[in-house]
Amino acid sequence: MPKHYKWGIMAPGKMAAKFANGLKVLENADLYAVGSRDIKRAEKFAHDHGFRKAYGSYLELAGDPEVDVIYIASPHSRHHDQAILCLENKKAVICEKAFALNSGEAEGMVLEARNQNVFLMEALWPPFQPFYKKASEILKSGELGKINHLHSYFSFYPAFDPADRKFNVELGGGSLLDIGIYPVIDALTFIGVPDEIKATAKFCETGSEESLSAIFSYNNGPMATIYSSFRTNIGIGCDILCEKGNLTVSRGRDMNQRVILGLHGREKETFVFSPPALGYHWEAEEVMRCLDKGLTESPIVPLSFSVSLMKTLDNIREAAGIVFPADIRS
Ligand SMILES: NC(=O)c1ccc[n+]([C@@H]2O[C@H](COP(=O)([O-])OP(=O)(O)OC[C@H]3O[C@@H](n4cnc5c(N)ncnc54)[C@H](OP(=O)(O)O)[C@@H]3O)[C@@H](O)[C@H]2O)c1
Repeated sequence: MPKHYKWGIMAPGKMAAKFANGLKVLENADLYAVGSRDIKRAEKFAHDHGFRKAYGSYLELAGDPEVDVIYIASPHSRHHDQAILCLENKKAVICEKAFALNSGEAEGMVLEARNQNVFLMEALWPPFQPFYKKASEILKSGELGKINHLHSYFSFYPAFDPADRKFNVELGGGSLLDIGIYPVIDALTFIGVPDEIKATAKFCETGSEESLSAIFSYNNGPMATIYSSFRTNIGIGCDILCEKGNLTVSRGRDMNQRVILGLHGREKETFVFSPPALGYHWEAEEVMRCLDKGLTESPIVPLSFSVSLMKTLDNIREAAGIVFPADIRS
């Protein structure tokens, strides 16, 4: 009989609803409590998704002795303080991407987790997905030879709303931390940390970045180009151009995940994956697997990766002139 874990949801918005749907497919996840700044929002979310308790403050959720693990789904700028609150209350934490606003905050979260000896993980979707695993397997097999270039992009066209976290610099707004993080993860996963970064950005009327282009250079050969934007609508994809052919990794509007292997001189091979619950349940499953084993971090999403990712995002922001008020304050 597997141990059951009582889950708490902190900041029940759009992403939290998708994560809750993921929890519903896991036998050992107990949908227990929701904490919002607004008790009515907590009650509605709890009612809609079948959680038993609703709290009108994050402090009450973190302080409930029954809660085992808390999923944080607030805007990026709130992740640091909310994670610290949960860790201080000895709650295991899975925190949405971007893990924090900058690497200083991310390092503070990791330090607190280590001091408290409590589990902490960034809620990174790609490492758990079948298309990502398939792409990694093909690249590791060596059949494509070495990577010469990686081109990765994510863009969509949200309605402009200056109050929305995507366009609000106080909340870490901009395409980079919201969606550009995925092309950056592709480059870090499939090639590694770049030796040099060049980047440029366009800004919207709130002062928030709305389009970002970056070039990563690696001393040992390859380059990567990264693109994210709220002003075009190309979707999510990554082309990995290698000596002996190309690999395309993408998620379509139908939410199906695809890997297309195109070896030079051979017919293309396509692999399609359609995970349940959009694949979000695997992150929660990993948290509970780690807790079962008494681990304080996940070997699949180690905290060193989250800090390295945050440092790369800092370096892109510095190159492109993207500044958050919190950077200046700290
Ligand atoms: N992994 C993925 O695929 C994925 C996809 C989308 C988003 N995300 C991440 O999930 C996080 C939340 O995104 P979302 O689109 O769900 O956000 P959202 O719906 O706009 O807001 C989520 C919650 O954050 C709190 N919040 C909203 N505005 C706030 C403000 N101005 N100040 C303080 N708190 C505020 C609210 O919680 P209360 O109810 O407590 O007030 C709200 O319910 C982001 O970090 C985002 O990057 C991840």
